[in-house]
Amino acid sequence: MSRSAHPAGPRHADVLPEGHYSAPADDLNALDPKVWAQTVTRTEDGSVSVGGIDVATLAEQFGTPAYFVDETDFRARARAWRTAFGHDADVFYAGKAFLSRAVVRWLHEEGLNLDVCSGGELATALSAGMPADRIAFHGNNKSVEEITKAVEAGVGRIVLDSFQEIVRVAHIAQSLGRRQRVQIRVTVGVEAHTHEFIATAHEDQKFGIALADGQAAEAVRRALTLDGLEVIGIHSHIGSQIFDMAGFEVAARRVVSLLAQIRDEHGVELPEIDLGGGLGIAYTSDDDPREPHEIAKALGEIVTRECEAAKLRTPRISVEPGRAIVGPTAFTLYEVGTIKPLEGLRTYVSVDGGMSDNIRTALYDAEYSVALVSRTSDAEPMLVRVVGKHCESGDIVVKDAFLPSDLAPGDLIAVPATGAYCRSMASNYNHALRPPVVAVRDGEARVIVRRETEEDLLRLDVG
Ligand code: LLP
Repeated sequence: MSRSAHPAGPRHADVLPEGHYSAPADDLNALDPKVWAQTVTRTEDGSVSVGGIDVATLAEQFGTPAYFVDETDFRARARAWRTAFGHDADVFYAGKAFLSRAVVRWLHEEGLNLDVCSGGELATALSAGMPADRIAFHGNNKSVEEITKAVEAGVGRIVLDSFQEIVRVAHIAQSLGRRQRVQIRVTVGVEAHTHEFIATAHEDQKFGIALADGQAAEAVRRALTLDGLEVIGIHSHIGSQIFDMAGFEVAARRVVSLLAQIRDEHGVELPEIDLGGGLGIAYTSDDDPREPHEIAKALGEIVTRECEAAKLRTPRISVEPGRAIVGPTAFTLYEVGTIKPLEGLRTYVSVDGGMSDNIRTALYDAEYSVALVSRTSDAEPMLVRVVGKHCESGDIVVKDAFLPSDLAPGDLIAVPATGAYCRSMASNYNHALRPPVVAVRDGEARVIVRRETEEDLLRLDVG
């Protein structure tokens, strides 16, 4: 995530606190299309609309805080990935970024497949009609019950994550009289340039089986001997929110060299490789993400070249973008509550949500943008920290940003690029009620995940 220290610009207050933040945009009313969903625009009266509906109307109808997802944008991004990878490759949307039944239907209609990583995600996918053979099942500790359900449903692939799981899945498949299609997840030994908690291809972490010391080759050897398994390929996922393609290229090269080793040792050419997800998106105007067609081209070229060199048939490639599809398509709408200027420091702007609807700032030091969306303002920019209403000081939504200095309680502000890993990681901390997700398209808004109620909370409390 890019971050730069800027000197005070002409429109800054005279004295700014120590810190690293981008200079305020020349026009705080402008909405950078890099971070806002496709149909978000300022209307003539100065408020912001999405899918043709202005935010004040949305706030009145659905309340705040709430996530609004631009369905047109979601479908366009899904289609762009699908088109970029063409017919010789498969795109699996990573449901962990955000999953609901409506999303499953959009994906199905747009021709994408789905990656799930829990029984809950699998149940959601199946209940919304995603064909089981278009589902990949992931996880480093799938339960026997989850595996059984996945095999019974007929999922297209289970991604095996350990030696124990190879045996476990083979045993379950065999006892159900099935031969389960599987991939073996390997860790290729790449240090992805991202936050430590979301890097997954270095050796010292819980996912996959290491390539480096021959463990991955041994895992494939064992899996090939088991009747309950059909080994279709190798899987690699190097991490998340990554901008630099170099890590993916190294991963692709190492996976292809494992395919060559398997061919040499076992006379088998595995037909598929999956290069995972992880492509970064713009959270602020400083971020410059890659387009799906650039990624498809880079990965396709490297796999083809390496396969030609190793005299292998080019395998079918699949990828698993989550954030890159859903992330930019949604924003969180908040109402401004208490505003607390701290002399010589910054102004704390409290909103009616917080770390319960967006834990990413607290967890990964993530950066976000924010804008006043219920009106325009020509007031001077003020340096703000947007915070939530939870009982801890780490409850920060946007660490450093600029909002107009005439901001007042009751104004609506929105944080863009919250489609991925916000609702899906939301919590009930302090018994917060998780916000709804509202899909907006062509002048119509409909709730796809409803707001939690106090009855929902109390229903679980059976003591
Ligand atoms: N495939 C596998 C096997 C994964 O583990 C993940 C993400 C993806 C695909 C999708 O990655 P994406 O394209 O969305 O980056 N909560 C963190 C991100 C955790 C990602 C976990 N795995 C965050 O908020 O940044």
